[in-house]
Amino acid sequence: MKILILNGPNLNLLGQRETAIYGHQSFDAYFEQLKKKFPSVDLHYYQNNSEGKLIDKLHECGFSYDGIILNGGAYTHTSIAIMDAIAGITTPVVEVHISNVHARESFRSTSFSAKKCVGAIAGFGMFGYEMALSYFLQKTK
Ligand code: DQA
Repeated sequence: MKILILNGPNLNLLGQRETAIYGHQSFDAYFEQLKKKFPSVDLHYYQNNSEGKLIDKLHECGFSYDGIILNGGAYTHTSIAIMDAIAGITTPVVEVHISNVHARESFRSTSFSAKKCVGAIAGFGMFGYEMALSYFLQKTK
């Protein structure tokens, strides 16, 4: 099973950025744990701060991968282009947010991208990525 984790803007700063909200772990460290925990999964990770680069990656992987786990960061709340990219690919996408976006500023409750996703997970910290991965794994059983 081939899965892509796609992280958007500012998520390269995980572990350093607003640690009270996002925690102290870097995504690279978490990704190593995840690979060990799910050795049967062909797990790929890509992060970019640019909307277009995220769209390019969705196009690149979105017809051959078994699943995409997307944390679009702030583009979640603004990007119709990312929403259209998800609609245009065949690989199912699960949206993940580390923080509980619904308990924060009201603009964070809007997600354009989630409209085209299978579902969305928010508020469980990094564990949300694992939840999304478990969804894809049970789906093939
Ligand atoms: C986030 C929530 C977004 O509102 C924010 O812009 C982020 C991170 C999260 O994972 O909780 O950058 O996607």
